[in-house]
Amino acid sequence: MNAPMKLPGYITALLLAASWALPVSAEGVRVQSGATNIDVFSAIEIVVAHKGATGFVKKRMDRMEAIGAEMKLIGAMVRGKKRFDGSKIAAASERIARHGRKMNKLFPKGSWKKPTHALPKVWKDWRGFTRAMNTMVRSATVLAEAGRAGNKKRARAAHIALGKSCIGCHRTYRLKKKKHR
Ligand code: HEC
Repeated sequence: MNAPMKLPGYITALLLAASWALPVSAEGVRVQSGATNIDVFSAIEIVVAHKGATGFVKKRMDRMEAIGAEMKLIGAMVRGKKRFDGSKIAAASERIARHGRKMNKLFPKGSWKKPTHALPKVWKDWRGFTRAMNTMVRSATVLAEAGRAGNKKRARAAHIALGKSCIGCHRTYRLKKKKHR
């Protein structure tokens, strides 16, 4: 019964989660894995955060997460929470644009699989979806230019516009959820 220890973390956590339906064996697993209740809880939260995604779903989630991190970094700079560095903003924006250009490939037909948060509308309205992705790429390019020009005011406005392109797509093509803004 040490098997769960050798498995990847998320599978172990899934096993633990599944075993919750059977309190007795849940105890057994907890004891054998040496995990406290809190460990079990946090292991399961990690699963929720990564959602046990695989394949295309995992790849696009990871890419979206990366885009989110770039947005945070840029946001801190344009809002004066971090030292403004136009070249860093340009680089981060270009990374966002690059992710965006590759993103459509990560939404092939038939990739509407659990635990995706993409809505079936992505595939029903593929043109609208790709248009929304192009809007994001364009907005990221505008932001990169503002960064290169070292223009904080313009960068701030472009950051807001880029953020709107995220929200615009999410509102139509992504399932609503509590996390991720
Ligand atoms: C053209 C549509 C579109 C655009 C533009 C877009 N997203 Fe997304 N985003 C999605 C979809 C669809 C998902 C859900 C993917 C899935 O679960 O399969 C998602 C998921 C996410 C997630 C959650 C990833 C996870 O781990 O579940 C984050 C964070 C995110 N997007 C950030 C952003 C940010 C920041 C921007 C703008 C800079 C952006 N997105 C632009 C469609 C878009």
